[in-house]
Amino acid sequence: MRAAVVTVSDRSFRGERPDVSGPVLKQLLEETGTDVVEVVVVPDDPAVIAQTLIRLTDEVQCALVFTTGGTGLSPRDTTPEATKQVIDKGVPGMEEAIRQESLKATPLAMLSRGVVGVRGQTLICNFPGSPKAVKECFAVVEPVLAHAVKLLRDENPYADTDHACRPSRS
Ligand code: MTE
Repeated sequence: MRAAVVTVSDRSFRGERPDVSGPVLKQLLEETGTDVVEVVVVPDDPAVIAQTLIRLTDEVQCALVFTTGGTGLSPRDTTPEATKQVIDKGVPGMEEAIRQESLKATPLAMLSRGVVGVRGQTLICNFPGSPKAVKECFAVVEPVLAHAVKLLRDENPYADTDHACRPSRS
């Protein structure tokens, strides 16, 4: 399974702040056996974010694309708007789960407007910018990623007989 990580930050893009969250996400993905083919830093520019997401989905054909940063309320925070421009379908259940679990860690989670959606056969997830938030949000979605990717590929997600989501035969 191929994945990419997009850090959205003007300051990291300009080299004024090291990108910590991108490498954290890369490591978390690799620990699940996912092949992280790119970790890219882009500015908080919706056109650049959208172009990057389109490239990573349509050309690089990643199964998963995670963004970190730009989900808040600052004037330059436009990651959710850029993501909405490029997705075919939203996955509101994943957005809700991320916010619900994140609220257990901090009330500031309600300020993240992160979107989860599908473009073609790619799942795109917006996470907030801090390494702490990235770890917390990844822990929420990680249990459903393999199942989601199989559904996107129109494969049988229940082929693994031990899968926790396999429906019981009655
Ligand atoms: N979600 C989790 N799980 N943990 C966090 O620490 N931080 C919040 C929120 N979501 C946080 C979180 C904060 S402080 C902000 S401002 C918003 O995400 C938006 O962050 P962003 O603008 O870096 O995307």
